[in-house]
This record gives sequence, structure tokens and C-alpha cells, in this order.
Amino acid sequence: MPNIVIVGAQWGDEGKGKVVDIFTEFADLVVRYQGGNNAGHTLVIGDDKTILHLVPSGIMHKSKTCVIGNGVVVDPEVLLMEIGRLRERGVLTGSGNLKLSTDANCIMPYHKKLDHLREARLGKSAIGTTGRGIGPAYEDKVGRRGIKTRDLLSENVLRAKLASVLEFVNFQLVNYYHDEPMDLERLLTEGLEWGRQLKPFLEDTPLLIHREMERGRHILFEGAQGAMLDIDHGTYPFVTSSNTVASAACHGSGVGPKDIDHVVGITKAYTTRVGAGPFPTELESDTGERLRQRGAEYGSTTGRPRRCGWLDVVVLKNATRINSLTEIAVTKLDVLTGFKTLKLCVGYEYKGKVFDDVVANGIDLDACKPVYEEIPGWEEDLRDVREFDELPANARKYLQRIEDLLGVPTSLVSIGPGRGETIILSNPFRE
Ligand code: GDP
Ligand code: IMO
Ligand code: MG
Repeated sequence: MPNIVIVGAQWGDEGKGKVVDIFTEFADLVVRYQGGNNAGHTLVIGDDKTILHLVPSGIMHKSKTCVIGNGVVVDPEVLLMEIGRLRERGVLTGSGNLKLSTDANCIMPYHKKLDHLREARLGKSAIGTTGRGIGPAYEDKVGRRGIKTRDLLSENVLRAKLASVLEFVNFQLVNYYHDEPMDLERLLTEGLEWGRQLKPFLEDTPLLIHREMERGRHILFEGAQGAMLDIDHGTYPFVTSSNTVASAACHGSGVGPKDIDHVVGITKAYTTRVGAGPFPTELESDTGERLRQRGAEYGSTTGRPRRCGWLDVVVLKNATRINSLTEIAVTKLDVLTGFKTLKLCVGYEYKGKVFDDVVANGIDLDACKPVYEEIPGWEEDLRDVREFDELPANARKYLQRIEDLLGVPTSLVSIGPGRGETIILSNPFRE
């Protein structure tokens, strides 16, 4: 029955999309459970590159069911555009195999507006959000004034909810930001049209997932963002507004902790971050630029250059703990080819002391100096390697050292963006 959660173990963009696509072959349902279209998950299949923001990364497997769970914040406009593009390419036919929770909260146009206005107001202290309205939408959800996808189906319900929320939203827009208020009638017309188009996809997804589990189906839960962007455990306030850790798969899709069998943490072979906030191993040097160029490190959602640095094992140890990782998958190992020496950050020096197990709480990460362990690099191109034993000896040593430091095994190594450029060491669905 294995059900598996795939999570980012760093600051996002670890290659979750690719790994989900690979493991979907062994699953029946693929479920997104948190975040929204701040995510950009890339799949490279043959010559085709697909970037998914809301639709789960299992969608290229036509016989599998993809679910957008109740914990996701859904921008209906973006979802409809994504569905439209997938239909044009023949990936989706009709409502096909995509299900959307009736309980998911919507990202409304005013959430996007507020996101931009807030960032502008913060100036130099801005978070560097994706500008997709994620924070304001989650605030409304927790504030119990959110619009759920099912609310888009009834004019009476939507009108009443919009009237109530707009009182609050327009007060902020006009009096705090000195901006234009939002118009209820326009939002109502747009919202009802989105509802009409999304209706065929809407479903009680927790019930669907449970029925499938009862039939012995395998579920793959697809995380977005990464552990260091978690609202509780990340580098607050430079985080996203949802829980990104594995336990969110439970409340974001309607299953209990006993239904999760494996948690796979995805990590790049180095570290990247988009947006502002502390990043102890960041390299603002030629080495960082080389990682960015070789790894094509530009955001899948916003196109922003990603900040790059050596692999931070302190971050990964934290991710291992807070997610209960049972294994890791290491991506983009190919990007490290050609570096004479590689560095692994195994601790932080702070006020004369070395810490190897502290990340977000208590110490000022900006004031931490990474403590590095050096490992010799390799020159060989890895993209044609298909077996672990074919990897250069130093690449194997690098992976082994990470595994030893974390105390969890590696189930997959990725050596290129394509489906085939993958070495599977152990398949959690086959355990
Ligand atoms: P996600 O948000 O975690 O799904 O990751 P993104 O899709 O935002 O970013 C990962 C990027 O790295 C994408 O452009 C992938 O196509 C690419 N990628 C994934 N795995 C590998 C790999 O092993 N090697 C290389 N060179 N690129 C990879
Ligand atoms: P995937 O799923 C990388 C970052 C933003 C910003 C912070 C808050 O592709 O790994 P938000 O718009 O969520 O309020 O922005 O979080 N961020 C991501 N960084 N990958 C992501 O998703 C991200 N989603 C949000 O850059 O620093
Ligand atoms: Mg991404």
C-alpha cells in the first residue's frame, strides 16, 4: 500500500517535479497538498519541457489521477490557463484525470494586488515573494473569510462572501495603500465564470483519496517549496505562508499520519534560493555564477536568477528531522562536474562556537559563517551514467558523505533534467 510524500529539503526548486514524474509510474494518485502557483515544477520529457504551477507533476501519465487538495490555494484564472495549455497539447481531455478539492481556498485578484502593494511598502525589507497572492490568500483562509472553490458555484453564496470580505479588503486598499477599491460586481461575474469552468473538476477529494486507499491504491503526495520556506520551521519571515513539511500532506489532503509510509526529501547537490533572506553558504563569487550558469538557475515561476552556494548539510539535517525523512533524492549532480574541489557545509560558526544542528531558531543566520569540509571533485560528464557504480569515484564519495552525515539512505540520483537521466537506487513504492 505504500503512500509516499515527496518534499523539498532546501529552499525550493530542488527538482521535485522531475522526481514526482519518475515515481508516478509506480503510483495511482498524485496529490498536491499545499502552496499555490508560487510553485514551478519542471518536467523534461524527450524534447518537451513542461512547467507546472498548480496541476500535479503526475499529469503526463495519462492513466493516473491527479488531485489538487484542500490545502492548496488555487488561483482559478491560472489553473484554467494551465488546464487550457494541457488540453491544447492533448495531455488532458475533458476533465480527464484531474480533480480539484471543493474545499481549496481561492487566490482572488485582491490577494495578488495586496501581495504587490505589501512588498512595495516593505521596500528594502521585502520578502521577495513570487507576487502570486499566496500570503494574503492564506491569511484570509486562517482569518475565516476565504472564498472556497465550491463558493464559485453559487451566486448567492459568492455575493454574500465577497460583500463581507471586500469591506475589509477595500478598507486596506483605500485607507492604508491609497489605492483603488475592488468592484464587487466585476469579481462576482469573474468568479461565477471560473466556477462554471471548474465545476467538472470539483470533487470531495479527501473522500476520493480514502476510497482509493481502501482499494489498495498507491498515493504520491507532491510537496511544493522546501523545508527552509516553511512558515513554522523556515527562515521566518523570509518564508512562504504554508507549512511545506511532510506533515502538511495530511491536513492538506485529508489523510492521517498513519497513512504515510515514506518521506523522500529532494535536495540539489548544492544549494539555491530565490527571494530574500539568510543563506549561509551563498557564493557571491565566480563559483556562485558558475553554479548558476551550469545549473541554469533561473526561477521556473518568476525567471529571477537564483542565488547559489555549496551544499548546506546543516539545512539538510534540519530537513531530515522536521520531515521524518526516510530517504533522500539528490538532483543536479551533473552540475558539479569540473569543480576541482567541492565543499560541504557541516556546521556554522557563530560567536566563536560551532553549531552543527541549528538552523532557524535562536541564532542569527546572517551572522553565521559556514564551516566546510572539502571533497575532491571529478571531471567526467555524468549525463550518460545510468548505474551508481559507473559514477566517478569522487562523485560516489560525495554522495556517501552526505548520506553518512544525514543518516538516511539515498533512493535516487539525478544527473540531468530528462526522465532517463536518473539512477534509482531503491524504489520506495517497491519496498
Ligand atoms: P522543483 O520546483 O523542485 O520542481 O524544481 P524546478 O523545476 O523549479 O527547478 C529544477 C530545475 O532543474 C528544472 O529546470 C529541472 O529541469 C532541472 N533539473 C532537475 N533535475 C536535474 C538534474 O539532475 N540535472 C540538471 N542539470 N537539471 C535538473
Ligand atoms: P517550488 O515548489 C523557490 C519563495 C519566494 C519567496 C518566498 C515567499 O517551485 O520549489 P511567496 O510567493 O510564496 O509568498 O514567496 O518563498 N518561494 C519559492 N522559492 N521555489 C518555490 O516553489 C517557491 N515558492 C515560493 O521566492 O522568497
Ligand atoms: Mg520550482
